[in-house]
Amino acid sequence: MFNKKIEKFYVTTAIDYANAGPHLGHALEKIQADVVARYQRLLDKDVYFLTGTDEHGIKILRTAEREHKNVTDFVNENSDKFRKLLTSLNISNDYFVRTSDKKVHWPGAQFLWKKIFEAGDLYKANYKGFYCVGCEAFLTEKDLVDRKCPYHDKEPELIMEENYFFKISKYIDEIRKKIKSDELEIYPRSRKNEILAMIDRGVEDISFSRPKDKLSWGIDIPNDDTQVMYVWCDALSNYISALGFGTDEDEDYKKFWPADLHIVGKDILRFHAIIWPAMLLSAGLSLPKKIFVHGFLNSGGKKMSKSLGNVITPEEIIEEYGAEALRYYLLREVTSYEDGDITKEKFKTAYNANLANGLGNLTSRIMKMAENNLDKPVDIEREVSPSDFLDNLEFHKFMDYVWEQISETDLYIQETEPFKLIKINPAQAKDVIRDLVQKLNSIAVLLEPVMPESAQKIQNAIKENRMPSEPLFLRK
Ligand code: MSP
Repeated sequence: MFNKKIEKFYVTTAIDYANAGPHLGHALEKIQADVVARYQRLLDKDVYFLTGTDEHGIKILRTAEREHKNVTDFVNENSDKFRKLLTSLNISNDYFVRTSDKKVHWPGAQFLWKKIFEAGDLYKANYKGFYCVGCEAFLTEKDLVDRKCPYHDKEPELIMEENYFFKISKYIDEIRKKIKSDELEIYPRSRKNEILAMIDRGVEDISFSRPKDKLSWGIDIPNDDTQVMYVWCDALSNYISALGFGTDEDEDYKKFWPADLHIVGKDILRFHAIIWPAMLLSAGLSLPKKIFVHGFLNSGGKKMSKSLGNVITPEEIIEEYGAEALRYYLLREVTSYEDGDITKEKFKTAYNANLANGLGNLTSRIMKMAENNLDKPVDIEREVSPSDFLDNLEFHKFMDYVWEQISETDLYIQETEPFKLIKINPAQAKDVIRDLVQKLNSIAVLLEPVMPESAQKIQNAIKENRMPSEPLFLRK
């Protein structure tokens, strides 16, 4: 007997700050990761797909205080909102990690800290610097634009305190080499170049802890009860803590680490491409294989903000159009690695043209002809083949390809006119209809990783040789 070795695939998203509920940017990232996970499963890989919430730090503590809430209740509430969104978007994650989880996450984060400490890479020093609460990061002069953080448009706070520092400088040459050679692949290329340029400008050792009397809401540090872990050591370690790293139950860690793919937004690339690899090197652990960087989602060319009144929530779109439509929009109308844009008008136009009148209409037309003219379901083959577009994380190109198949099939109906042919040459017309059902089936197979529910509905209709019980895309 041969024991076929099953290849593993470990994909992660960033863990979202539990200082508010989710927005569309979070939805975009989770959907992209879900497509990867579903696609890799279709290729018969043993997939582990991780997402979760990032729950410590000053920003969260302050927001909870402002809202007169106990911080634990506050993060529970927000973390639940993220989990609810995952369910309504049909995200197939295998686990949901929470950094406030003392049983799962803390031992992993603390064990990693210990390894870095034992490697001699942590030292205590006085720190004076600018701290952006929005980024939960110390910024250097170089990061500021008009003395403000470019991402949060706010002047950072000046902070003076004693911290542990991490000797990132010790690992920077090795990291540069690995990024250059794509041993640690950063995709797209423009982001790789951006990181290499950042490394060339010089990377300073970074603050790795905060005094407990200034920030109590964090993970305790082994052997020093005056400090808590600074949020990046706390947060980045989720990728291994979730797998049981640092506990006795670390089979998943042994099986799935290193990550095959981290999916992150452009604002946190440097943490993932510089700090995280340095931490792993220091601890003697393997590096992730690839980091995919997506852009930001705007609305009407501007960052969504309450004051501009252009905020669209995932819930309101799902409520009106359904989760599949939102998946469609974020995968097709946004170039996977560039900034994208969404407005209600754009959404409606895309929905009507490509879902209601596109895929929905095609499915009804074909299945109506099949139901009326064929006496048994068409024998279909379900062949899943690798896609260069999905391998390269070019979700938009993959979607374009699927919609090309939809247009071609529409054209085929126009050219063959089976509904007329049936009166003249029924045998030939039935062949055409069977052919159309086959084509529709191939489209449904392509849709499995991107729009799983629609794919399933189409496949069920084909199996039962009937129209879908309700239109695929019905606006509420
Ligand atoms: N908690 C950190 C990540 C820690 S990972 C070890 C964080 N959280 S976040 O909630 O601010 O962002 C989570 C993810 O959403 C990040 O990848 C971020 O880039 C992404 N996005 C945040 N705003 C976004 C848009 N407007 N558009 C697309 N993605 C965006 O950063």
